[in-house]
Amino acid sequence: MSGSVRIWVLHGPNLNLLGQREPQIYGAVTLQELDALLTQRAQDRGVELHILQSNHEGVLIDALHEGGQGAADAIVLNAGGLTHTSVCLRDAVVASGLPVIEVHLSNVAAREEFRHVSLLAPVVVGQVIGFGADSYLLGLDAAISTVRKQSH
Ligand code: DQA
Repeated sequence: MSGSVRIWVLHGPNLNLLGQREPQIYGAVTLQELDALLTQRAQDRGVELHILQSNHEGVLIDALHEGGQGAADAIVLNAGGLTHTSVCLRDAVVASGLPVIEVHLSNVAAREEFRHVSLLAPVVVGQVIGFGADSYLLGLDAAISTVRKQSH
């Protein structure tokens, strides 16, 4: 592969409220602090990072399309509640043709039943769930190693 690995991190609905929203479930780290941790990890790993948060499904879909048109090599996606409901987002993951790593701060399998279903799970490379902010850092490492394996 020429140039450095380009990873996009997409945060879905309500994740702008991290740190204030149900901290007993999602932790005290704010989105800004999480993004700073991700940026530092990306620098340490020598990869390019682009981060987007949106409360709007269509914006996330557009980002998946854009990433898939050659702008990104892999995506780390926390789709928030859309994980459990959005056929459109799942279709966009497939359409992107990119390796996507699904991440969740909380252990969705240990929560309400409606959170046990992920429409994304069958079309992503894998999931990292339940480790708080570390889910994203582990997801970033998984995305990097997926891309590096592909390019060999
Ligand atoms: C979440 C889990 C979802 O069920 C929830 O709707 C969220 C956050 C998580 O990161 O744990 O918004 O994706």
